[in-house]
Amino acid sequence: QNGLNTRKIGNHITHLEQCASTQIVAHKLAQEGAADGTVVIAELQTEGRGRLMRKWDSAHGKGIWMSVILRPDVPPHQAPQFTLVAAVAVVRAIQQVTGLEPMIKWPNDILFGAKKATGILTELQSDADGIQALIIGIGVNVNQQLDDFDASVQDIATSLSLESGTIVNRRELAQEILRCLERYTDMYIEHGFSPLKQLWEAHSATIGKAVRARMSKETLEGIAEGITEDGVLQLRTADGKLHGIYSADIELK
Ligand code: BTN
Repeated sequence: QNGLNTRKIGNHITHLEQCASTQIVAHKLAQEGAADGTVVIAELQTEGRGRLMRKWDSAHGKGIWMSVILRPDVPPHQAPQFTLVAAVAVVRAIQQVTGLEPMIKWPNDILFGAKKATGILTELQSDADGIQALIIGIGVNVNQQLDDFDASVQDIATSLSLESGTIVNRRELAQEILRCLERYTDMYIEHGFSPLKQLWEAHSATIGKAVRARMSKETLEGIAEGITEDGVLQLRTADGKLHGIYSADIELK
């Protein structure tokens, strides 16, 4: 018994002392037929990866580095919504366990002020029949002190411990994240995105703000007005045009 009381998420947990990236391990397990809800968690990642091919600093024993395999019966275009659902789940779990009030920066960075404490990376295994697996990678900076971060990220990263001034129980938080992930993905599958969109927007650091969106080909500045039912960010530029942003780096101005 893992003490989770979930229906499927966490029924199978692979706990590793070290790996290159829990995403890589989870992809392999998913290809080998791992069950819906399988979790891979590591104390240390030597090649933790972030969105947009970035590196993810994953100090030994200080954070929660895990990947969850989901096998939802939804069309591939709904995959990005799971990232937003996961962000809501992680924020709720952090609130529950630490009492802190983090905010979400679109699509799924979890911040305190301008500093990032958590990143989520959703990857897809799909074929002609649709989604075979979603691999949701969750990295939470839990007990790092400033020195534990790479010098290059010290002014943009933070941890729950730095924010709360206490040591946070990683096991308790990881369990709560998995419970919330099950609760909110179930809610999404049963009721669609609307209730989740409301929760996401309630924790959003982006909506209503002036932002700069850097995309591969252009940069747009404007007001982030909201997200659509598909999780697309709606940005209104000064000329009054509304732009749908699918993938970008958002800077709050
Ligand atoms: C981001 O904000 O760029 C996403 C970061 C995701 C990091 C997590 S840590 C667990 C999982 N394994 C990885 O290599 N990356 C994700």
